[in-house]
Order: sequence, then structure tokens, then C-alpha cells
Amino acid sequence: MKFFIDTANLEQIKEAQELGVLDGVTTNPSLMAKEGITGEENIKAHYLKICDIVNGDVSAEVIATTYEEMIAEGELLAALHPQITVKVPMIRDGVKAIKYFSSKGIKTNCTLVFSAGQALLAAKAGATYVSPFIGRLDDVSTDGMLLIEDIVQIYANYGYKTQVLAASVRHPMHILQCAKVGADVVTCPLNAIMALLKHPLTDNGLKQFLEDHAKAAQKAAL
Ligand code: E4P
Repeated sequence: MKFFIDTANLEQIKEAQELGVLDGVTTNPSLMAKEGITGEENIKAHYLKICDIVNGDVSAEVIATTYEEMIAEGELLAALHPQITVKVPMIRDGVKAIKYFSSKGIKTNCTLVFSAGQALLAAKAGATYVSPFIGRLDDVSTDGMLLIEDIVQIYANYGYKTQVLAASVRHPMHILQCAKVGADVVTCPLNAIMALLKHPLTDNGLKQFLEDHAKAAQKAAL
């Protein structure tokens, strides 16, 4: 399972990259705004900075919502860097745009997916990735993980190449459940990735090992 980080924060992207487990980055307009990145040129420059840090795919979301405008914006984004994946919302014109980008060999990430039907359409249009939002479904008392499971099964039934990119991940259990049901990618905040590291028995065990080693060294020195 690939690990993407879901942020536009360069420090956090660097930290995940330095850990050696990062396969890509996803951003969205809210995440860019959170970092104070506005204006076409600043946004493009920021995507390039992200591409410099990581080796994998970097999702850059279109702001346009009509077919023609999405094509124009997406082509500019894709031309920025080979790692750029054009992120397109799951709306009627978005599906058409994904079909177009796919015919031109431009990678796409179909975002704001909340049903298996939407995921089926994204795959038929040739999306590189589909992003079902787990956390936002959980927020409205609907089991987001069941959607991941359904999409993985539907894609396997027909051999669709679209990768299931589980998004809106909120905690480490989401990551583990995604791994169990066979998601291709999870995109997570840094704290959810780092939380996978933690176990009190690891910390206690290490403390004990180091104390025993120090005691033995002290004894040998006497
Ligand atoms: C990623 O591609 C999505 O934009 C993101 O995971 C949404 O997460 P949120 O529901 O925590 O905003």
C-alpha cells in the first residue's frame, strides 16, 4: 500500500519524506489556503517545491468546474512537472475531463467521491486514482471503510486499473483498515502516519535494554 501525505505544508512533507516511507502527496484548495498560498504563480511555484521534495505523484486540484476550463487548467498543471496528477471533482464535467485527460496520457485523481457508483464512473472514465473520503462519511454516521471495501471489490471484479486512494483519513486505525481491505493508496495527515510508530511496550523495552547495557558496561569497568 502506498503512503501519500495529505498536506501542502512543506515542513511536514519533508518530515515524511525523511522517514523514508512517502510515495506521494495530495493537496486540495483548502490545504493550499491553509498554508496561505494564493495566486496562480504562487500556487504553481508551490507545487514545484513539493515535487522537489518527493519522488512520487503530487495531486494538484483544478479550481474550474466547467469542462473547457478544467481542460485548460489541468493541462497547465500537468505541464508543470511529470509528477503532477490533475485532481478533478466528481461532477458531470469532471468525468468528461477525466476521460479527456486519460486519452492524452495525463494522470488524474477523481476527488470528492462518496459512493461506489461515483467510483465506477471514475474508473470507466480512466482515472488514475479515485479518492473516496472516509472521514467525511464517518462524520455523517456512514461507514467510510465499507465504501473502500466495495470499491476495491468492484474494481477487482473487472480489472479496472484505477487505484483506490483512500482520502479523508483521520487516524491510524483508518490506515490499518485500508491495508486490510486492500486500498492501493492512503493519503494521511502526518500525525496519523507518525501514530503508527507508537507503542508503549516499544518505549519501555528500549529503556530497559539501554539500562541493562549501561549497567553491564559499568560492571565491566570496575
Ligand atoms: C485528499 O485528497 C482530500 O482532499 C482530503 O483527504 C480531505 O480530507 P478532510 O476530509 O480531512 O478534509
